[in-house]
Amino acid sequence: MTKKIDSCTLVLFGASGNLSRIKLMPGLFKLHKLGRLADEMKILSVGRGEMTREQWHAEIKGMMDAKFKNGYDVAAFESFLARNHYHANPPTDPDAFKKMAATLGNESVFPQNLAYFLSVRPTDFAPVVEQLSSVGLLDESKYWRRVLIEKPFGTDLPSAQDLQSKITKHLKESQIYRIDHYLGKSAVNNAMLTRFTNTIFDPIWNNQYVDHVQITNNEILGVGDRTTFYDATGALRDMFQSHLLQTLAMVAMEKPKDLTPASIRAEKIKLLQSIRPIDVPNIKKQAFRAQYSAGRVCIADGHGENVHGYLEELKRDGIESSHTETYAAVKLFIDNPRWKGVPFYVRTAKRMHEGNTAISIRFKKAPMVLTEGQHQNWLIINIQPRECIKFEIESKVPGLDIQTRTLSIDGPQRQQNDDTVDSYETLLLNLMSGDNSLFLHIDEVVAQWKLVDPIVKAWAEDTDPVHQYRAGNRDPEESHVIFESQDQFWRYSIELGGDKH
Ligand code: BG6
Repeated sequence: MTKKIDSCTLVLFGASGNLSRIKLMPGLFKLHKLGRLADEMKILSVGRGEMTREQWHAEIKGMMDAKFKNGYDVAAFESFLARNHYHANPPTDPDAFKKMAATLGNESVFPQNLAYFLSVRPTDFAPVVEQLSSVGLLDESKYWRRVLIEKPFGTDLPSAQDLQSKITKHLKESQIYRIDHYLGKSAVNNAMLTRFTNTIFDPIWNNQYVDHVQITNNEILGVGDRTTFYDATGALRDMFQSHLLQTLAMVAMEKPKDLTPASIRAEKIKLLQSIRPIDVPNIKKQAFRAQYSAGRVCIADGHGENVHGYLEELKRDGIESSHTETYAAVKLFIDNPRWKGVPFYVRTAKRMHEGNTAISIRFKKAPMVLTEGQHQNWLIINIQPRECIKFEIESKVPGLDIQTRTLSIDGPQRQQNDDTVDSYETLLLNLMSGDNSLFLHIDEVVAQWKLVDPIVKAWAEDTDPVHQYRAGNRDPEESHVIFESQDQFWRYSIELGGDKH
C-alpha cells in the first residue's frame, strides 16, 4: 500500500541538531529522490541563529556530504534544496513566533497543512506547543496541523501526565504524534505481520506451545559522550520503557480487527495494560541490573578495543558515583488467557559481546524426546543488524540410526534490491500522511510508565553496590536469577549454537 502524502510544510525545530543532521535531512532527501514527497511540499527549518537561505543550503550540503560518503545525485539534490527554507527563532526575541506565523502565512510559498517535528530539549516541548498555539499555528479550522514529539515523553508517570495536560490545552489527541523510532523499523512491524499473515503461527502463539519469549537489545557501544543524560536516565528508561515494551506489544497483542491505526493501537493498549505490575517486595527475582566495567569489545572491522568502565567514564565527566544501570533484565507476565504463565524476559545492555536486537521465542518440549537435552524449537525474529526470521527444528540425521539434529531455516526479510529505509523515513512519511499507527497513544505511554516507575524507584532506593560486568562479555551469570526454570538461558546469536554459553 503506497501512502498518500498531502501537500504540506514540514517545520523542523532543532534543524541543526544531531538528529536532523544524521537522520532527518538525509531521510527527507531520500524520500524526495524516491518521489515520495508531494510536489508542493516544503521544509521550513527552524534554528536559534540568524542565517540566510543560502547559508542554510550550504549547511544541508554539509549534512549530505557527511552522510552519503559515496556521493549522491546532484540534480536531485538541487531540486531538494528548492523545498528548503530557514527561519531564525532566537529564544530572546519575544516576537519570534509571531514572525514565524508571518513567514508561514505566505501561502504562495508554504502549503498550509503544517507538520511540526519537535527535535528540541524535552523541557521545550510544552513551551513550543504553547507558543505555536498563541499565534494560531495549531488551528485546524481550514488545514490540518500535527505535532511530532521526540522522545522521551516524560521521565516518569507524573511528568508524562504533566506534559500531556499542558499540550492538550492546545492539541487534540489526533494531532499529537509521540515518536518511538522502534515502531518505524520494518523488522519490528514484521513481528506483527508474520504472525497474522501466516496460517501456521497463530495456532501456536500461546501458552500451550510457547515456553518463554526473550526480547533482547544488546549493544556493543557504551554510553559515549552522553554520560550526564545517561546517568540521569539508565537502561530501563532509555530502552526498556518504550522501545522494548513496544516491541513486546507487537509480538504479544491480540489480532487487531484490521490494520487501521485505531485498531492496532487499541490492541497494543490492551496488551500493555495487561502486563502484571512488578512485585516490588520480590523485585530481585524479577529484575536485575548491572553496570559495565573496563573490558575489551569488538569494533566494526572485527578488531578488539580496550574500553573504560561506566564509572570511569562518569568520573572523567565529573560524576563521582552512580547506581545507574547500563544492563537491565526484567521478567514480565501478561495477565490474559493467551499468555498466562509464559515469562517474557526483556533485556537491554550496553557494551556486550555482540550488537543484536531480536525477539526469540522458545517453544515447549516436543511430544517425543529422543535424547536428553533435545533442542527445543526456537523462532527468532531478528530486528538488527540482520533483518530475518530463523526457525530451528529437529530433523533426522540421514543414515541407519534414529537420531536428530537441529536445522536452522533462514528466512531473510531483506532481499537483494529491497529498499533500505531508515525508521525515521517511515515515520516522517506517516506523519505527513496522517497515519499515527506507528506513534504512541497517551494510554500506551501511561501504561509503560506505570510499569517502569516502581522498578526505577526500587532501584533508586537500593543502595547495594551495583553488579559489574566486564565490557565485551555476555550477560552476567547473576542475571539468571530471574529465570523461571533451570533449563532457561539467554539466547544470543541467531546462528545455530548461539544458544550455547
Ligand atoms: C535510543 C537510545 O533511543 O535508542 C540509545 O537513547 C540507543 O541509547 C538507541 O542506543 C538504540 O537505537 P537503535 O535504533 O540503534 O537500536
